[in-house]
Amino acid sequence: MAPTPLLILLGTTVILQADSLPEKLLLLPPVNFTMKVAGLAQVLLRWEPNPDQQQERNIKLGYHVKIRALEDDDYETKNTHSKRMIALHRGVSASVRTIPWEDGSLPASSWVSAELRPPAGSPGTSAVNLTCATNTVASNLTRSKPYQVSLHCSWAAGQEAPEDTQYVLSYRYDTHTEECQEYSQDSLSRNTACWFPRTFIDGKGRDMLAVRVSGRSQRAAIRPHDQLFALYAIDRVNPPGDVTAEIDGTHLSVRWGKPVSAFPAHCFKYEVKIHGTRNGYCQRETMTTNEYNSTVSDASKYCIEVRAAVSSGCRQDGPWSAWSRPVYAGSDEQKPSTEWILLLLMATICLFVLSLTCRTCHVWTKLFPPIPTPKRNIQVFIATINYEKTGSVETESEVVSYVEEHGLVDLEDVVF
Ligand SMILES: *[C@@H]1O[C@H](CO)[C@@H](O)[C@H](O)[C@H]1NC(C)=O
Ligand SMILES: *[C@@H]1O[C@H](CO)[C@@H](O)[C@H](O)[C@H]1NC(C)=O
Ligand SMILES: *[C@@H]1O[C@H](CO)[C@@H](O)[C@H](O)[C@H]1NC(C)=O
Ligand SMILES: *[C@@H]1O[C@H](CO)[C@@H](O)[C@H](O)[C@H]1NC(C)=O
Repeated sequence: MAPTPLLILLGTTVILQADSLPEKLLLLPPVNFTMKVAGLAQVLLRWEPNPDQQQERNIKLGYHVKIRALEDDDYETKNTHSKRMIALHRGVSASVRTIPWEDGSLPASSWVSAELRPPAGSPGTSAVNLTCATNTVASNLTRSKPYQVSLHCSWAAGQEAPEDTQYVLSYRYDTHTEECQEYSQDSLSRNTACWFPRTFIDGKGRDMLAVRVSGRSQRAAIRPHDQLFALYAIDRVNPPGDVTAEIDGTHLSVRWGKPVSAFPAHCFKYEVKIHGTRNGYCQRETMTTNEYNSTVSDASKYCIEVRAAVSSGCRQDGPWSAWSRPVYAGSDEQKPSTEWILLLLMATICLFVLSLTCRTCHVWTKLFPPIPTPKRNIQVFIATINYEKTGSVETESEVVSYVEEHGLVDLEDVVF
């Protein structure tokens, strides 16, 4: 079995250590370990080095911290305090022990622990399905900040929340904590969404946002709900601005501007979607430039949309923005009108050729021998004109022009 040789090996190491060190160094756990709430979804852990700890000149000590909460945390530090972002509504328990900072052969001390009890409240009363999104808008105010970040959150009332429950939402970003002032309500007039037109959130922020929905009611204690959001994941990037598209023959050129954002231009990637409304042509391309040229195959109207996302060079990959408002280039009219003119031209030529052939061969004359009365000839002509008028205009003009050239005598050859 594998563990046996390992144990022997460890044993040897310990013996060797014991031999090489004059006294065996035993690590003692830290003392006075405390944990307290330092802010919205934030705890401060503090401890002191054990005063009875023997000191060795060349041995540095550190601490290993384990936190059990809604999400666990596990880290090592040389400090004797740390501030952590933690959802507190399920309670928190934390432990710390002394560890050798560099010398891995020394065994760690035992653990010391502290606990924060979950906040009071009846089960099922806390807000559920909390989602939040941020958005950057250009700031009106000619201050040093050209952009401001808005925050919108929504949630649903807990299953067991009484009808008179009133929820309150607050967020914390870095050291700033703010309570929401603008709410919208569900059918029972309970707050279920909230809007901050401007916040302390950094438009280029890479860290976490803490949000808490607490509440009050005459009939039950409402349990608060904490949630942490990664800013890159909830940032609703604006779509690119000023999208223009031009078509020149088969050359389609699309341009757009950087979205309204605190991030500089080089931080964005774009996706262009070109859709031929007539020919069903579809193309999607991802790029980092602000323009795109394409060769389009066919005469059609094209619908062009562009969307943006912050690229991984500047912040962790987040979701795409919405598509920009569609712009159109090219025209559907061109192709059908060309076809139509061609068709008419063909028909005219056919008619002309046919009439010529008829005249040469005297088919008409042979089939219906002419009646040599000029008065009747004119009548036939008038009747024909009237008849032809009900048909296409082109046919009529053709007949007339022929008559003009060749006179009434040959009328029988034209009419068929
Ligand atoms: C631990 O706390 C006690 C009581 O507050 C205090 O007297 C003592 O000095 C503290 N120990 C250390 C190592 O700070
Ligand atoms: C919360 O979300 C889940 C899944 O998305 C859904 O099934 C549930 O109905 C939602 N609860 C409320 C109260 O809206
Ligand atoms: C910007 O200014 C306009 C009018 O000047 C005002 O209606 C609007 O609320 C302002 N927007 C912000 C975000 O301050
Ligand atoms: C796109 O075409 C325009 C001319 O229509 C040209 O000036 C521009 O350099 C081209 N851009 C790219 C990226 O090829």
